[in-house]
Amino acid sequence: MIEIKNLVKYFGDNPVLRGVNLTIQTGECIVIIGRSGCGKSVLLKQLVGLLYPDSGEILIDGEDLTQMSEQEIYKTRRKFGVLFQSAALFDSMTVSENISLGLHEHTDLPETEIAAIVESKLRMVGLPGIENLKPAELSGGMRKRVGLARALAMDPKYVLYDEPTTGLDPIMADIINEMIMRLNQELDVTSIVVTHDMTSAYKVADRIVMLHRGLIIYDGTPEQVKNTDDPVVRQFIEGRAEGPIKPIPTSGVGSGNRRSI
Ligand SMILES: Nc1ncnc2c1ncn2[C@@H]1O[C@H](COP(=O)(O)OP(=O)(O)OP(=O)(O)O)[C@@H](O)[C@H]1O
Ligand SMILES: [Mg+2]
Repeated sequence: MIEIKNLVKYFGDNPVLRGVNLTIQTGECIVIIGRSGCGKSVLLKQLVGLLYPDSGEILIDGEDLTQMSEQEIYKTRRKFGVLFQSAALFDSMTVSENISLGLHEHTDLPETEIAAIVESKLRMVGLPGIENLKPAELSGGMRKRVGLARALAMDPKYVLYDEPTTGLDPIMADIINEMIMRLNQELDVTSIVVTHDMTSAYKVADRIVMLHRGLIIYDGTPEQVKNTDDPVVRQFIEGRAEGPIKPIPTSGVGSGNRRSI
């Protein structure tokens, strides 16, 4: 279980997270929605210790990440698989080398065993036999799935997906949705999915939360979200420019110089 308590994160005078409270139960698939720039990726990065909060607590299975030493954070990170927003594959390495990075870094497994793990993860994401290709030879959908295979390499307890379907055609997006659901159910992982894609959110989520102006302003099931009267959530899910959502201040932009949306 992950408990985020009063998480505050500023960049300069830009208040990205102003006191986020969120509990993620083991085994659930939670989707975080919110406008571009509202802090979704910043929130995910703090869960794996890639960014440090200004204040607040992040309890991973009861242990507070914000109180851990570098070494303890490094160990805790093994519980997580992350599919980064850009897939973040290393272009100079083969698919196999990309997937096995963490295994080489964190384990002493022999090469034959690592190769077997790579093979099984590639099969899991529907891309058997592409070990020796380079990322440049892959389509966007394939890159996402290789990123997912890498996220799964260490058999994580928690998988974080940052915009897993963005930029993919609707069918490939749905293949990714199905994978997220299958991994959640069959491998018993806890999934945290950040997305703007409401089709994906409705399909994969047990629970959807909305991040807005630094706070979680909504928490409900997909059915509740679809039927909500909350004007901010409605504006977001209907994708309307007009409504109560005010522009998010960006760093370096003073209050007298806000862009309207
Ligand atoms: N390393 C950083 N240094 C300074 N500001 C940052 C940094 N990372 C993020 N920010 C700022 O934090 C805010 C939130 O960024 P974040 O990437 O979390 O948005 P997001 O919700 O993931 O958006 P998108 O949906 O477009 O990916 C933005 O204003 C961004 O400029
Ligand atoms: Mg992001």
